[in-house]
Amino acid sequence: MKLPVLLLGFLGLFHGNRAVENGVWPFDVTTISAPDGSVTAKFVSFGATMTELWVKDKFGGKRDVILGYDDNTQLLTDPAHPVFNPIVGRDSSGTFSIPITKLPQPDGPNVYHIPTNDHDGEDTLHGGIYGWDRRNWTIVHKSATSVTYGHLDAADEGFPGTVTAFATHTVENGGILRTSVHASATEKTPIMLTQHMYWNLDAFNGSENILGHHLQVDSSKIVHLDGDAVPTGSFINVEDTAFDFKTSQTIGHVWNETVGLCGGECQGYDHCWIYDHDESKKPGVTLWSDVSGIKLDITTNQPAVQVYTAYWLNTPRKVVHGGPDLNYTSWTAVAIEQEGYIDAINTPEWGVDQIYYPGKDFEWSSTYKFSTVS
Ligand SMILES: *[C@@H]1O[C@H](CO)[C@@H](O)[C@H](O)[C@H]1NC(C)=O
Ligand SMILES: *[C@@H]1O[C@H](CO)[C@@H](O)[C@H](O)[C@H]1NC(C)=O
Ligand SMILES: *[C@@H]1O[C@H](CO)[C@@H](O)[C@H](O)[C@H]1NC(C)=O
Ligand SMILES: *[C@@H]1O[C@H](CO)[C@@H](O)[C@H](O)[C@H]1NC(C)=O
Repeated sequence: MKLPVLLLGFLGLFHGNRAVENGVWPFDVTTISAPDGSVTAKFVSFGATMTELWVKDKFGGKRDVILGYDDNTQLLTDPAHPVFNPIVGRDSSGTFSIPITKLPQPDGPNVYHIPTNDHDGEDTLHGGIYGWDRRNWTIVHKSATSVTYGHLDAADEGFPGTVTAFATHTVENGGILRTSVHASATEKTPIMLTQHMYWNLDAFNGSENILGHHLQVDSSKIVHLDGDAVPTGSFINVEDTAFDFKTSQTIGHVWNETVGLCGGECQGYDHCWIYDHDESKKPGVTLWSDVSGIKLDITTNQPAVQVYTAYWLNTPRKVVHGGPDLNYTSWTAVAIEQEGYIDAINTPEWGVDQIYYPGKDFEWSSTYKFSTVS
């Protein structure tokens, strides 16, 4: 196995409990700010995770609009593992083959079994038991407005091939935050990554949940799930359903119709919307709140988005969100994850190829643009 020289260099340089200004690696905090003060973001190396994101509300005050912990070591130890704002991967089904085929696959040299952690052992949610969100990334570049983290995935969790990943977070004037991830593999392997952001655009100041947030998703269809929330290989047209956010609706506009939609007793959404547009110039998702006036437009190079209204959340809040006595609970945030088609690895009929190899690198990018509405 050949490791890139650069990567060996930075792993050697940064390994060990190297004390840094704010916290000890991998929980060292890096702050980046746009020169005009419109956006300030904080990160830790662990999972290349965003821990705080401060933007301006319509009153001129600033709010931290993402969930998280005051003690970032909870990213590793919180048994609830809500996955607050890291880079996660390599998502995949628990069993897959290369080239891809439908389940169930007979055993063979090209069939892989990954440790499973969701849906009673059928899926590998967020990259296995210890996915990239719980790996110790290292800083490879840092400036006042940008930070790049690197991670070497040496066939962890049973995936074929070594994958080298770099995640870059950048802020710009005008309320802009960009995250991009570049990953390259040494042999054929599935890669599907996302940035697992949990939003509350009021930051628990003036409202307690996101049911009144307005949501618009540029999508006419979602991936159909069975009663255990496992994809069936077909799509549902959102027209005249509770999934229709093609024109903006409040997230809670038909909340009573969402009982059981996300599997079992789960109320709300945890679904994969397929974007209608196939270029990344147009916002795929727009989210705003009348309370804070904060508006977020997300553009991405990804073809789909997972929207999860956080039914299963129960974790102490940050102090700035009213914690630690109050918890983040159901519907106090919405997770919005720009991603590929979920379960494409077991659905060859979609013709969506998520296998990467030398000469075909994986590229993920999203831009979050903040503004205010009155
Ligand atoms: C809530 O937001 C308003 C408007 O920005 C601000 O004046 C106030 O101090 C905030 N309250 C808290 C508790 O942060
Ligand atoms: C990553 O960091 C955690 C927390 O310091 C530590 O327990 C773990 O051993 C580290 N893992 C590796 C692979 O260095
Ligand atoms: C939703 O359900 C609750 C509890 O069953 C009920 O009180 C409420 O009136 C319903 N709302 C609408 C809009 O149907
Ligand atoms: C908050 O979450 C913690 C961790 O899950 C739990 O132990 C505690 O009981 C919760 N508190 C409340 C008030 O539900």
